[in-house]
Amino acid sequence: MIPVITIDGPSGTGKGTLMQLLAQRLGWHALDSGALYRALAWVALQQGVGLDDALVLTGLAKNLAVEFRQGGVWLNGEDLSEAIRTEEIGLAASRVAAHPQVRAALLDWQRAWARPPGLVADGRDMGTVVFPEAPLKIFLDAAPEVRAERRYKQLNEKGLSASLHQLIVDIRARDARDRSRLTAPLRPAQDAIVIDSSRMSIPEVFERVLAEVRRVLPDALSQ
Ligand code: C5P
Repeated sequence: MIPVITIDGPSGTGKGTLMQLLAQRLGWHALDSGALYRALAWVALQQGVGLDDALVLTGLAKNLAVEFRQGGVWLNGEDLSEAIRTEEIGLAASRVAAHPQVRAALLDWQRAWARPPGLVADGRDMGTVVFPEAPLKIFLDAAPEVRAERRYKQLNEKGLSASLHQLIVDIRARDARDRSRLTAPLRPAQDAIVIDSSRMSIPEVFERVLAEVRRVLPDALSQ
């Protein structure tokens, strides 16, 4: 069995950063499953495909040639790393991700990422659906206002303007859709360790998770 650590939770909780830190520390692979749904949404918008058109979206999902190269997200030779990080694509991704057939079409591709020596996978359903056998499952949560504020700061640092109020509205809308959908709704797996990062820094969350790794997968850290 290839060891997998899953990190699920809503957007803006620091899942992506935690996944990178952990993958680096362990020397394991990293899977950013949200980037997959974002890339699909990007293609759909480019091609004028309706976000409710499950049939066409499923076809696109089956042929989606996403690659993670040099720390970026690439599709057909194009670097989409920045283009897929917008709020618009985030909301569109949560709409394409609501279709069960689309999710099913992306399952095998995600599971193929479980390669030696191990995988850290970040998303919404990593612990519940994609890797239900994972020995360590983390569910990272934080209050919507805190997450919106973090996003607001990130955008400002990039020189992009944003409305904090609009960010809170968007985050709530995306959460509601992700939590209420029938297939693979956002929720902690029964055996997940839930961490509320509202009042924690990234290094604090990282230390907390490392303590769990030491407990559950002691060999992973000794290599
Ligand atoms: O994590 P990120 O914000 O990049 O994900 C974008 C959207 O993709 C989420 O709001 C969610 O609807 C969808 N998603 C999903 N399942 C995953 C990862 C992301 O449904 N495993």
